[in-house]
Amino acid sequence: MCGIVGYVGWRDATDVLIDGLSKLEYRGYDSSGIAVFENEVIKVAKSKGRLTDLQNKMNQEGKPIGHAGIGHTRWATHGEPSDRNSHPHGGGNVTLVHNGIIENYKRLKEFLLSKGRVFESDTDTEVVAQLLDYYYQENHGNPMDAIIRTMQELEGSYALGIVFADFPDKVYALRKESPLIVGIGENESFIASDMTAILQYTKNYYLLEHDEIAVLSKKQVKVYDLHYQKIQKELKIADWDVSAAEKCGYEHYMLKEIHEQPTAVKTTITPRITDGLPNLEECGITPEKLMEFHKIHIVACGTAMHAGTVGKYVIEKLARIPVNVDIASEFRYREPLVSQNDLVIIISQSGETADSLAALRLAKKLGAKTLAIVNAKGSSIAREADMLIYTHAGPEIAVASTKAYMVQIAVMYLFAFELALANHAIDEQECRRLTALLQETPEKIAEILEHKEMTQLIASELITADSLLYIGRGLDYALSMEGSLKLKEISYIHSESYAAGELKHGTISLITENMPVIAIATQQKLFDKTISNIKEVKARGAKVILVCREDYTPEQDIADYKFGLPDYDDLLMPMLAVVPLQLIAYYTAVHKGTDVDKPRNLAKSVTVE
Ligand code: AGP
Repeated sequence: MCGIVGYVGWRDATDVLIDGLSKLEYRGYDSSGIAVFENEVIKVAKSKGRLTDLQNKMNQEGKPIGHAGIGHTRWATHGEPSDRNSHPHGGGNVTLVHNGIIENYKRLKEFLLSKGRVFESDTDTEVVAQLLDYYYQENHGNPMDAIIRTMQELEGSYALGIVFADFPDKVYALRKESPLIVGIGENESFIASDMTAILQYTKNYYLLEHDEIAVLSKKQVKVYDLHYQKIQKELKIADWDVSAAEKCGYEHYMLKEIHEQPTAVKTTITPRITDGLPNLEECGITPEKLMEFHKIHIVACGTAMHAGTVGKYVIEKLARIPVNVDIASEFRYREPLVSQNDLVIIISQSGETADSLAALRLAKKLGAKTLAIVNAKGSSIAREADMLIYTHAGPEIAVASTKAYMVQIAVMYLFAFELALANHAIDEQECRRLTALLQETPEKIAEILEHKEMTQLIASELITADSLLYIGRGLDYALSMEGSLKLKEISYIHSESYAAGELKHGTISLITENMPVIAIATQQKLFDKTISNIKEVKARGAKVILVCREDYTPEQDIADYKFGLPDYDDLLMPMLAVVPLQLIAYYTAVHKGTDVDKPRNLAKSVTVE
């Protein structure tokens, strides 16, 4: 969703803003803009389209030259993507950029119209700029008073970067719900929606909390609360390396992130294993605590929800505790049956997904204990949950999630092993065996990545398809959901995932020679049954791509292509089988020439509902 960058210091502000915005491109956007003080006058440049469109415009019309300013990438909510609706927006003395949604903007707009204010865009953001200027005029040019007064009026979620024409050496920033950090450099300071935007300039930052206002100048940053009281902020240091947010020779971030999976798994699980057994104590999870839960709800969106579905199969199989998996946007509005003895697990890469955050808050309100499995450090979900397991995938830039999914399921396994042991559903020996197998998965994943040519060949067969089916049983079905989503989001080819045994109850009528089927058959107990279902689609003309163990040789009436996986325990097969599915989606998108890392209409972090 929208991205914010702000700068005040000694560098060329336009360059810093454009560079920072380019690092936020992955969040998804359809227009961009900057406002920079040039000779103490605010100069604005904005454009619909990609950042390159903005740069082309500035090349023609002149680039603002100065040392302080704000920048924005916009993902349209109120008003179509257009130059006119792009941020920054202004009102008199005020120019600002905004991430989030102002829920009461209509009422505020009516008020401002009644005061004779004229609007130039359809956005909720311009209402904030006009309101802020209105109070600024009323408060005789005092920015802080005007900001505090405006915040009292705003309903919704927002992070704002603001400049006042009268204060050319300052940038103001504030947040409610939507994330914002303040970067601290040598004689310079920054604001950004996330750390990747400013990582190459500084690793030192403050995490702005709800209802905090930061005043940035070259020499210092001051942070205040809504009562204008100064707040002493804890300086944090990002542990990400600059290369974490670079492509490092890969054609796309997605491909790089697929290749980072072995390391991501290792970094995530190693600190949580002691003497061969899972140990989640540093995350606030003890065997005693685990024994209290009667039921588990896993709530998340998209890929994170698919990771939760794998978690359900594993937890129920090993720990024998009922698990519900819910889509966060459904959970939050369907009055879910959650009790005080339940555990609600929220899974989120970004930790800022609006529906998942709302689900977490609802679960807490209903008295359940909550556990967050989150990748982004210091994010809202991470901070609000009772217990927290960070996944250590590093920054995930590609919109299509790969390494985050991998570490989410790795954590699901660790959690399931510990829970099963705590409940005496498995003994210590079995727990050790499973933990050791999990520890070996990074090598197996690396092995698969070394033999990926077949996925390129398969992808070249898929590019002409209009629609595809992914089928599997048990854990393979859980995995097929993720395979299908990956293909859809980056190649724009329609696909569905289906439980293989359910096909004949309706969906098999869709099968023709034009509907390729990707069949996943890694579960030995279900293997023969899955093969029977595959034969059913093959007999109806479908081209079949089979993902199974290497040592199985399918006959011609079963599969046209096979991707072979190393032999491994059934339970852990999803960690291996997901890799070819990610690669098939990736290469199909590459063959089709789509924007792999920034697919159309999608945003990396969905901070609106
Ligand atoms: C995954 O490829 C998608 N981009 C999307 O489904 C994502 O997983 C979902 O929006 C949830 O995001 P989160 O993990 O940051 O909460």
